[in-house]
Amino acid sequence: METLTTTLAARDLVKRYGERLALRGVSLSAGRGELVAVIGPNGAGKTTLLSILAGIQRPDEGMISVEPERIGWVPQQASLYGKLTVEENLMLFARLERTPDPKATVERMLELTDLRNRSGDQVGTLSGGNRQRVNIAIGLLARPEVLLLDEPSTGLDPRQRERLWEFILRLAGEGTTVVYATHHIPEADRYADQLIVLADGERVFDGSPRELEQATGTTGLDFEQAFVEYLRQRGH
Ligand SMILES: Nc1ncnc2c1ncn2[C@@H]1O[C@H](COP(=O)(O)OP(=O)(O)O)[C@@H](O)[C@H]1O
Ligand SMILES: [Mg+2]
Repeated sequence: METLTTTLAARDLVKRYGERLALRGVSLSAGRGELVAVIGPNGAGKTTLLSILAGIQRPDEGMISVEPERIGWVPQQASLYGKLTVEENLMLFARLERTPDPKATVERMLELTDLRNRSGDQVGTLSGGNRQRVNIAIGLLARPEVLLLDEPSTGLDPRQRERLWEFILRLAGEGTTVVYATHHIPEADRYADQLIVLADGERVFDGSPRELEQATGTTGLDFEQAFVEYLRQRGH
């Protein structure tokens, strides 16, 4: 569905790694402030899709409507420096990204992530949840319209995960379009306006969580079971 408020559109993305087709013509469209979850089995192409949207890799075919400068990227492996403090990490990345006013930007990020009282702590001493906030803050330094997160909640306990989602929901509420990959299927059910299911490089579903449940034609399944059933019915 494409409307006037579409912030991000990608068409027919194809990515090959040698003989292997990692993406087979995947399209995606997301509106302002929309939360889009990309789910699918291991090796389905989720990271490949996000890294192409982020401009980290080039697709072999297809187009993307947004310049990479307008897109923030939060990779699965944070590139933080454990021996530097929260503030020093933010300052380092603000300078690397040539943010116009690094000091003001760092202040804004400490505010946004609610980490001001930890600003002097070494990143290596933070909890996984707080470290992930710093990682996300770095993806937000350039005030992107679109934020891409690759499995942001991996390794977090339920409470840390909930706090992380409060934070991400707040960003979306302020208009940032958020596209994330997750293995945590209940999370995609709870925190997505739109689901994109990838399997073997192909987009096999695009719609709301409820539409995915309906598409299985079965009742009485929880969302995770419905997801597995949907894949099974399509031979994955
Ligand atoms: N740099 C790479 N070189 C070769 N093959 C790759 C590379 N990155 C990913 N792949 C392959 O592409 C497919 C999709 O990988 P990926 O996007 O990481 O999947 P997901 O994130 O859904 O687990 C997999 O078969 C994977 O082995
Ligand atoms: Mg991945």
